[in-house]
Amino acid sequence: MKNDLKEILLDEAVIRSRIQELGKEIDDFFQEKEILLITLLDGAIVFTADLIRNLSIPLRLDCLRVSSYGDSTDPETAPRILSSLKSDVRDREILLVDDILDTGNTMQKVHDEVMARQPASVHSCVFLDKPDRRENDFKADWVGFSIPDEFVVGYGLDYAGRYRQLPYVGTLKPVIYEDS
Ligand code: PRP
Repeated sequence: MKNDLKEILLDEAVIRSRIQELGKEIDDFFQEKEILLITLLDGAIVFTADLIRNLSIPLRLDCLRVSSYGDSTDPETAPRILSSLKSDVRDREILLVDDILDTGNTMQKVHDEVMARQPASVHSCVFLDKPDRRENDFKADWVGFSIPDEFVVGYGLDYAGRYRQLPYVGTLKPVIYEDS
């Protein structure tokens, strides 16, 4: 699988260190207030698993399944929320967690849906941000890494459902997606 990569952008040590910093920043911000952390499946599963183990504040976890990209590298449709939350959002401190902020349409959609349920607050944390791709003015409160507009996989991010288990982030050789 590693042979399919053109380059490793973020290695395991760099990712670990940045997530420790994010954990401290989020802990400091919420100051022992309990949060409801809503993670956006599937891509955020790896980041979320590491992030929550670097948080000391009390938290509960809920998951939303959202999909927009299907098996391609470009969004084909507007993001769709494919599942419902098990938790009550009203009056809770919400932290939305996703693997990547690309066009921003997914986060904007989820943010709007959650806001409509009258939480105490809604904040967001993304592992990667591609600001050049943004189609709206959504800004995450915490960003792991800002990256250029290149197709990346690993650490939860997939191409056609594959490569999510790579413990680092890399760019795919164009031949991998040009042939399919
Ligand atoms: C990816 C990613 C984000 C979203 C970001 O999800 O996980 O949720 O796209 O893109 P946007 O900012 O342009 O909306 P995808 O639909 O590929 O599903 P996945 O999480 O299952 O990989």
